[in-house]
Amino acid sequence: MSAKILDGAALAARLRGQYRLRAEALAARGRRPGLAVIIVGDNPASRVYVRNKVRACEEAGFASRLIELPAATTQADLLGRLDELNADPAVHGILTQLPLPAHIDANRVIEAIAPAKDVDGFHVASAGALMTGLPGFAPCTPAGVMEILKDAGIDPAGLHAVVIGRSNIVGKPMAMLLLQAGATVTICHSRTPDLGAITRQADILVAAVGRVKLVTATMVKPGACVIDVGMNRDAAGKLCGDVDFAAVREVAGSITPVPGGVGPMTIAMLLANTLKAAETP
Ligand code: GUN
Repeated sequence: MSAKILDGAALAARLRGQYRLRAEALAARGRRPGLAVIIVGDNPASRVYVRNKVRACEEAGFASRLIELPAATTQADLLGRLDELNADPAVHGILTQLPLPAHIDANRVIEAIAPAKDVDGFHVASAGALMTGLPGFAPCTPAGVMEILKDAGIDPAGLHAVVIGRSNIVGKPMAMLLLQAGATVTICHSRTPDLGAITRQADILVAAVGRVKLVTATMVKPGACVIDVGMNRDAAGKLCGDVDFAAVREVAGSITPVPGGVGPMTIAMLLANTLKAAETP
């Protein structure tokens, strides 16, 4: 059996077309969705991510504001910028690209973004809202995974979902979203003994650890849905996920590729959150 490939790139493109229509409708009422993106310093990977976010905004008819600050920017300066953006009615979403230079306390910066504009979903108020089922912004990558499942017709209710990874950005919110959707959820991580014994029980397996080929074919239940959130480079420098794709696709029922799986959905969900922020009176 060869697994169905879950094409996140195609789904993201479709969703972005829908968001463009909603953005145009809002703009016609004088409320064009606006996203402000702050980058501090010149981390090359961050610059690529940020450029992609700004380009996606423009293609969807959003207003985007890119604020590029030097690496020596003080924390006080950065917090001052965020205060201004929090107060700016043309800005509906704000994100500060991570990582930040070592002299800046990233938590302090994340908490300075108004929760109503926290389109990354990283603020403690957003995390708390997700935990308690209140309205708020879910982090973009796990939200994108939920959209992939929905599009594939996979309802997590009553299924066993296993998440490998416990980060605040992916693992923990992923587990919360799956729990909210009715799955029985197990969270595994680097200290979990006999990982395979647990992953083999998964109907939905989400790998979000950042280790090349961590998930092998023997760790997957036949027919399972395997979601690969990893973004790694293998020994040859090729982009690859946490899952041994070639082997696991022969066991799984469905699987996301890397690239072209979860990655494009992260930016689509950033647009979705910004649109939601702009649509909220
Ligand atoms: N750095 C890597 N991924 C992300 C993300 O999704 N948001 C922000 N703000 N920084 C990141």
